[in-house]
Amino acid sequence: MTKPALLAVTDLKTSFLTERGPVTAVDGVSFTVRRGETLGIVGESGCGKSVTADSIMRLLDEKDASYSGSVELDGRDLLSLPETEMRKARGSELAMIAQDSMSSLNPVFTIGNQVIEAITVHQKMSQKDAYRLAISLLERTGVPDPEHRMTQYPHELSGGLRQRILIAMALSGNPKLLIADEPTTALDVTTQAQILTLIRALQSSSNMASVLITHDLGVVAEMCDRVIVMYLGQVVEEADVDALFDSPRHPYTRGLLASIPEIDRDRSEPLNVIAGRVPTLHAVPVGCRFAERCDFATDKCRDSAPPLEDVTLETEDMLAGDATPLKVRCWNWRDIPMNTIPATTTQAIR
Ligand SMILES: Nc1ncnc2c1ncn2[C@@H]1O[C@H](COP(=O)(O)OP(=O)(O)OP(=O)(O)O)[C@@H](O)[C@H]1O
Ligand SMILES: [Mg+2]
Repeated sequence: MTKPALLAVTDLKTSFLTERGPVTAVDGVSFTVRRGETLGIVGESGCGKSVTADSIMRLLDEKDASYSGSVELDGRDLLSLPETEMRKARGSELAMIAQDSMSSLNPVFTIGNQVIEAITVHQKMSQKDAYRLAISLLERTGVPDPEHRMTQYPHELSGGLRQRILIAMALSGNPKLLIADEPTTALDVTTQAQILTLIRALQSSSNMASVLITHDLGVVAEMCDRVIVMYLGQVVEEADVDALFDSPRHPYTRGLLASIPEIDRDRSEPLNVIAGRVPTLHAVPVGCRFAERCDFATDKCRDSAPPLEDVTLETEDMLAGDATPLKVRCWNWRDIPMNTIPATTTQAIR
């Protein structure tokens, strides 16, 4: 029998009250993450990746945000926990690192203050023990000269070091799940690679699961076991990472993959981009949300919204009983030949 998932997000809907009326930024998202697994979430800007992460962590201001559905971590629904319980869970059971280390760290406190605070929120221990643990966490996350760093303020550190500090703080309570929302977007390529290598090493030594949110499909290929692709608040495809890159089914996924610039491309050639724009949440199309940008759209696509179809049943692995879910939200995925050039147009970016 397969083990129950560590995280099971079921029909998550997150809505905001805005001046122009209510919007549903995450609209019926479901996925699971197993122990030790890394799930990637990809999609263009505004498709609901951060709102999904913030909903799992329950970090949104509940004055204007509301949730429905369930987010079960080890069988306990986080969405129905009282805030005091949720506060305990944050940091100890699940933790998040965000893109912007400068705004995640408090500029007026030293690094030492903040790492020790993160430790003692969840664990009762003397200041001396907390200090020792802080030093060992900074060592584990590759911060050189940790004793000195503990006395410094956030602005005195490079972006890469600040990100390591945030990772150390996130790990301080030994969470079962780490959510990393664009953890390396603000960093240069070398530092980015170092941070990703660090996350991967820490994960394999602790069997921690992670959700990795990124624009960068190269990062997904390196880091993730499984991927969900989001478009305008919904999951449009879910697959394990090899299947996603080898045989993307949704036209949107094909477009994203075709938009990755090739290293040896002819620079006089324009870059591929997906034509058109993501519709606004105030005017969500009645049919397929991607239809107006899709080369393969038919009248049916424009008139009625396709369900997220489980296509796992059709694979041989499933017959063998060990398949990972494979899902696609498209009326026509069967009819689009696998290697058709995706729904992209070319546009010069110079
Ligand atoms: N507090 C809020 N009030 C109203 N709308 C919001 C709020 N927060 C987010 N949204 C909207 O929800 C949608 C999803 O936003 P989200 O930040 O999750 O996108 P994203 O996929 O993380 O994008 P990016 O790649 O740029 O980080 C966007 O249309 C955004 O404008
Ligand atoms: Mg985001």
